[in-house]
Amino acid sequence: MSVSSSDNQKKFDEFFQSMEQDIFANANSVQKDEGKPVKETEFSFDLKPEELETYLNKYVVGQQNSIEVIATKVCTHFNRMKLEKELSDDERVTGSIKSNILLIGPTGVGKTYIIKLIADKIGVPFVKADATKFSETGYVGGDVEDLVRELVHEADEDISKAEYGIIYLDEIDKIASSSSGHGIDVSRSGVQRNLLKLMEEADVDLKTPHDLASQVEAAMEAQRTGHVKRKKINTRNILFICSGAFSGLQDIIKKRMNLQAIGFDSGNSDKKAFLETEILAETRTEDLLEYGFESEFIGRLPVTVVLNDVNEDVLYQILKNRYSTVVNGKKLDFLAYGIRLFFEDEALRILAKRAASEHTGARGLLSVFEKVLIKYEKIMPSLHYEELVVDADLVNNPEKKLKELLLNDNIKGFQSDFLAAHGIYLDFSDEAMELIQQRASVEHKSFKAICEDLFRDYAYAIKLLKREQFTITAEAVQDSSGYIERYIKDNYKKSSVNVSQDDTGSV
Ligand SMILES: Nc1ncnc2c1ncn2[C@@H]1O[C@H](COP(=O)(O)OP(=O)(O)OP(=O)(O)O)[C@@H](O)[C@H]1O
Ligand SMILES: [Mg+2]
Repeated sequence: MSVSSSDNQKKFDEFFQSMEQDIFANANSVQKDEGKPVKETEFSFDLKPEELETYLNKYVVGQQNSIEVIATKVCTHFNRMKLEKELSDDERVTGSIKSNILLIGPTGVGKTYIIKLIADKIGVPFVKADATKFSETGYVGGDVEDLVRELVHEADEDISKAEYGIIYLDEIDKIASSSSGHGIDVSRSGVQRNLLKLMEEADVDLKTPHDLASQVEAAMEAQRTGHVKRKKINTRNILFICSGAFSGLQDIIKKRMNLQAIGFDSGNSDKKAFLETEILAETRTEDLLEYGFESEFIGRLPVTVVLNDVNEDVLYQILKNRYSTVVNGKKLDFLAYGIRLFFEDEALRILAKRAASEHTGARGLLSVFEKVLIKYEKIMPSLHYEELVVDADLVNNPEKKLKELLLNDNIKGFQSDFLAAHGIYLDFSDEAMELIQQRASVEHKSFKAICEDLFRDYAYAIKLLKREQFTITAEAVQDSSGYIERYIKDNYKKSSVNVSQDDTGSV
């Protein structure tokens, strides 16, 4: 009963139709909904804050307040840029600051997820990088201006399009220069200074200064064609979003608010996580300065958003969400082998509880799912199952449940082979299964191999009795040939079937 590839295809189709369809339908819907093809160089943006907010809340759990602010500022940024394109120089407000955003929140609470969803939805070029990879000089790790060049690459070399992109810098807290210990960290504050030029407005060369080959190529092309291609990109309209976990920032805030002194630290871990978020919500510019940021840098991030930590209950809600990347991802992993995966609520509760104890936010969900299901993912594709129900029992004792599945699969395999070869359905009593199992482990053979040894001659005998179904009992396992002989004799007597002695003797 193995699953054919057309069955698999059907299952894939059904799955995508029921769950993933609107994820794809939503991506870039701004352009599709309008029905007008966007010319490559034309900037188009029509989304309203509440539309983006509703979209994000479909996927992201427990961050409503942050989403409200992020959705509003992102939409206003792009709508404002659109408006400014239409304004005359006189009408523009000179020196106005863009709404670059700083996201603060512990690991795995949805910072990157929210920004990725936004980039998908609004369809502007998007670049993500870790701030840690940059160095002041640009020689060691990379040059901050590379980010802008990458944005052009993401925009299919369309510079005008890239000028309305988003640059997302993760781990921004790692470029804070701690002044404790060995004095100010010059390299890190150097990276901040390089970034702040871009975050406001700068012209960036499309060719890296040390990329000699492309410099020469550009010069030759200019000579040949007489045209000098546009070589710079302006960052004025690029939205910068920075994020980080900012561990230790709470202590600075607490100190400023004088909270430690009144025992703010007490309580259980869930309550403590809640309080930590409450404290982070009090973040002020002065705290970020003390954390190690230059005031000019913080000045270019006027919108600060503090995300909530995710507790056990939120983790459970994340799993229950129909767009859950963890649950749907695992379902697809198994569906790739033609196996449908179902999760019972109780199992999800236990998994959420375990993930919460890892203190890595929703990232913990991934690791607890893997821990429970990895063996199943390895073994089940070789078995005959078309579905797996993940219940509390399986989550609590994955090894035991897997053994049962293996045993049942062996039985199923033997039964279906026997049925196909002889037209007889063999049943097993519980004791019989237990005994075969014991023998299989002593002799290091599979359940099926033991059955084939023991019941090789049963087909012929059962056919004599014109039966289509036969139950293997403990007795049949202990003395297989004696049992079938006795069985046939008894049944002959009962039904008075006239069969010669030779026939029964041959069983
Ligand atoms: N609030 C949430 N609602 C739904 N899913 C979430 C949420 N937070 C995280 N996730 C899931 O967990 C994954 C990891 O989260 P994400 O990458 O956003 O973490 P992060 O906050 O950026 O953490 P880090 O500081 O470690 O980069 C996401 O891809 C998403 O599937
Ligand atoms: Mg992240």
